[in-house]
Amino acid sequence: MSTLCEIRDLSVTYDDQPNPALGHVTLDIAAGRRLAIIGESGSGKSTLARTLAGLLPPRTRVTGEIQWTGGTPPCPGRDLGLVFQDPSSSLNPVLTIGEQVAEGARQHVGLGWKQALARAQEMLERVRIAQADQVLRAYPHQLSGGQRQRVVIAAALAAKPTILLADEATSALDVVVQAEIVALLDDLVRDAQMTLIFITHDIALASGFADRLAIFKDGRLMEAGPTASVLAAPAQGYTRTLLQSHLDLTSPPLVEEAAT
Ligand SMILES: Nc1ncnc2c1ncn2[C@@H]1O[C@H](COP(=O)(O)OP(=O)(O)OP(=O)(O)O)[C@@H](O)[C@H]1O
Ligand SMILES: [Mg+2]
Repeated sequence: MSTLCEIRDLSVTYDDQPNPALGHVTLDIAAGRRLAIIGESGSGKSTLARTLAGLLPPRTRVTGEIQWTGGTPPCPGRDLGLVFQDPSSSLNPVLTIGEQVAEGARQHVGLGWKQALARAQEMLERVRIAQADQVLRAYPHQLSGGQRQRVVIAAALAAKPTILLADEATSALDVVVQAEIVALLDDLVRDAQMTLIFITHDIALASGFADRLAIFKDGRLMEAGPTASVLAAPAQGYTRTLLQSHLDLTSPPLVEEAAT
């Protein structure tokens, strides 16, 4: 499996901050695979996402390097599709769904308006939105939260990116919709052989489909490796804690069950 990029000793410090948001991160990202970036709030996950997408705020200090295969970083919106936590803030309330999904194809692929709308409909169908032709003419407030996140994914896919970067893309959704969106992302990246970088605080969710896990805490990469080996033998005490807290929350209460 070829490498998409090599992150070497990467540190990122925001302008007004004394401490780095990311410190000395070294990590390889494989092309065409599903990598989950896992960590609690403030562990630096979104900072890594912004660094990969070239979207850090001005005056952020970055040391170390990211080497992209092919030499140049991916262009966000074209080579790199982005999906964030809150679909409402990603969508413009006064533009139709069709206009917004078509925009990426117009801007980055240079399709004409009519072709871009056809692409938009194709993408809405691909994210399994029913009656896509009608949804094209709808506005964001007319859709459910889960549908809106599907629309954002469709918009991210419209320029046919090679990488999809999803930052807490399912965290605002209820568990059933969350599972549907994860299954959808899984299918989409498999079909298109895209690289998926899936950011979440939920190790259980990520373990269900990611090929590799990278566990962050306080801006440090604690552990990275194939999902099965991280789960079978978590090298770091922190990963064990994450796994344990998940087990505590989701295991059935055996004693009580036996008593009823
Ligand atoms: N624009 C910014 N300016 C200054 N500090 C920031 C900025 N963005 C993030 N930080 C700080 O950098 C650290 C890492 O934040 P980051 O957003 O990367 O974490 P995260 O793992 O994505 O957290 P969450 O799960 O809450 O989204 C935090 O201490 C945060 O306060
Ligand atoms: Mg974040």
